[in-house]
Amino acid sequence: MEKIKISPTLEISRFVHGFWRLKEWKMSSSELLHFIETVLDTGITTFDHADIYGDFSCEALFGEALKRKPALRKKIQLITKCGIMPVSQKFSERRVGHYDTGYAHILKSVDRSLRNFHTDYLDLLLIHRPDPLMDPAETARAFEEVHQSGKVLHFGVSNFTPADMEMLKAHLSLPLVTNEVEISPAQLEHFSNGNMAYFLQKGIHPLAWSPLAQGKLLHPDDEKSHRIHKTLTALTQRKEIVSLSTLAYAWLLRHPAGIIPILGTGKIERITEALKATEISLSTEEWFEIYEAGLGHRVP
Ligand SMILES: NC(=O)c1ccc[n+]([C@@H]2O[C@H](COP(=O)([O-])OP(=O)(O)OC[C@H]3O[C@@H](n4cnc5c(N)ncnc54)[C@H](OP(=O)(O)O)[C@@H]3O)[C@@H](O)[C@H]2O)c1
Repeated sequence: MEKIKISPTLEISRFVHGFWRLKEWKMSSSELLHFIETVLDTGITTFDHADIYGDFSCEALFGEALKRKPALRKKIQLITKCGIMPVSQKFSERRVGHYDTGYAHILKSVDRSLRNFHTDYLDLLLIHRPDPLMDPAETARAFEEVHQSGKVLHFGVSNFTPADMEMLKAHLSLPLVTNEVEISPAQLEHFSNGNMAYFLQKGIHPLAWSPLAQGKLLHPDDEKSHRIHKTLTALTQRKEIVSLSTLAYAWLLRHPAGIIPILGTGKIERITEALKATEISLSTEEWFEIYEAGLGHRVP
């Protein structure tokens, strides 16, 4: 599989695999290890996590599997996130969900993630969401500290606008190598909110979360997803593509920003299906057919 250099020192796979839903897959540790190794066999080497996934359990489940075969660590790139402080039984004193992008919390969260993964470094740490109370100088100071200690090799953000990124960059000597945002035919906001223009200007590859709109593109349940499903179905028939999901990924790959989809499935056959997207070329008109289905109207 093609690798993408998202910074001079970080190369990740063309598709990333995400572990948000890991707990739902109900895999034993040995099953999970087998799953990870099978995903690696497909060429995907980059794995997306967050401290909060599975109510703070997914990192540790992944780490337990990794502990069974420590040699795998060097073959994978681990991404994780911090900053969301949800109301959770794990933190019974917390009354109100909030964000914390302060120095102390970032240091604490990184240490917890390292313990969970049974590793001594993270390849990429993202601030999970823009924080209305962010003091960018403090966040930057935490980044510099965990970078200097070798705990985190690269940094990025998630769900940020260009202005949010510029604000943090202004205080940071290290680059922000990516912004992980929701992109799919059902979520087009980043084509018009300045983010895509910013990514292209700066040469940033965005990571796309929920590329199948959390499965809704395959199993539509509202007017918009039905509309997109109908268009994808017609196009798959015309282009003789076996699966709607393959076409949906091909639509992301067609964009010049080099969007990197994060797969969310727990099924290997669906991962294989996704990777076939690299064999499909979409014409400009075909790309716009899907774009218009998402918009719900013709482009002016
Ligand atoms: N940064 C953020 O704020 C943020 C937010 C959300 C997610 N994420 C990341 O993005 C990753 C992907 O998000 P997502 O899980 O919502 O992705 P998605 O691909 O949009 O949705 C995956 C869901 O669709 C289902 N599905 C149904 N048919 C499918 C098919 N043919 N192929 C693949 N999946 C199918 C999957 O079920 P099966 O497992 O049964 O296949 C799964 O429940 C997450 O794991 C996480 O790492 C980041």
